[in-house]
Amino acid sequence: MHNPIYQFQDKYDTKFSSDDKNQAIHALESGQVLLLPHCAFSVAQNEAFLLSPNTLAKNAKNVSYNTMNQKISGSDYQTEQRDILTHFMARYAKYAQDLIGNLLPHYKQHLTIGRTSFRPAEVKNRKTSYRKDDSRLHVDAFVSTPVQGLRILRVFCNINPEHMPRVWHLGEPFNDVAKRFLPSAQSYCSAKAKLLHKCKLTKSLRSAYDHYMLQLHDIMKKDTHYQNTVEKLRFEFQPNSTWIVFTDQASHAALSGQYLLEQTFYLPVEALQMPEKSPLRILETMTNMCLTTKA
Ligand code: SIN
Ligand code: FE
Repeated sequence: MHNPIYQFQDKYDTKFSSDDKNQAIHALESGQVLLLPHCAFSVAQNEAFLLSPNTLAKNAKNVSYNTMNQKISGSDYQTEQRDILTHFMARYAKYAQDLIGNLLPHYKQHLTIGRTSFRPAEVKNRKTSYRKDDSRLHVDAFVSTPVQGLRILRVFCNINPEHMPRVWHLGEPFNDVAKRFLPSAQSYCSAKAKLLHKCKLTKSLRSAYDHYMLQLHDIMKKDTHYQNTVEKLRFEFQPNSTWIVFTDQASHAALSGQYLLEQTFYLPVEALQMPEKSPLRILETMTNMCLTTKA
């Protein structure tokens, strides 16, 4: 099996060597999870009360923070509690930005920051439709927020205060996922994409790339035989560790755990060192089509 994890051995130090930086970029673009076992976001004493399911509003899956307008959603906390939550999320966004800036300076000027997410609910036994079930292996693709070919780079930190790991499955390389499932994907229909946008079901026009990534996401999650039999690694991300991954490329699933922070970044394929390994280029080679030309 390919090794889905690339683990940094050293203690975290904001001064990464140029070897570290090269290895990090190579591992990430090859689809590996980059694990920094000793690198952690620290929760301040006055923030400890946030590590409770009460932080989450009824029916919300995550607390979400938008760095553009400093607004929180997914929590009913008011006044001082809300201010502390907002500050906590903003601190994590800054932590993730600083880490990427130090470890992946090549990407820095090309990155767009996305949502910051705090996940205070236990993942295990969450009942949802297969499409929303992140305990099934998948590559990330968004239903209502098309990426138009941008990469999805995510920084996770397990902040569980009770020594509980975040447990993931990591599956086969993207190339194998695409070879297996692309032949059963429905073709892209630009008229349908326009209609989805017009009806405000997508925030911008769904590109062919977004369509095929969603198809892979859905078809692989739906295939129970595949989920049960495909070669995969079960991995425990310990509390106070950080991991970085292109979640549009690495096949992953979350099995259990509680209290996770996550920061999303978007990166154009042109900013990669090895664009040929990106899902966009792999799918374009397989379909022999340009998948991001807006219809
Ligand atoms: C996912 O991205 O599929 C879920 C990751 C997690 O919540 O651990
Ligand atoms: Fe995911």
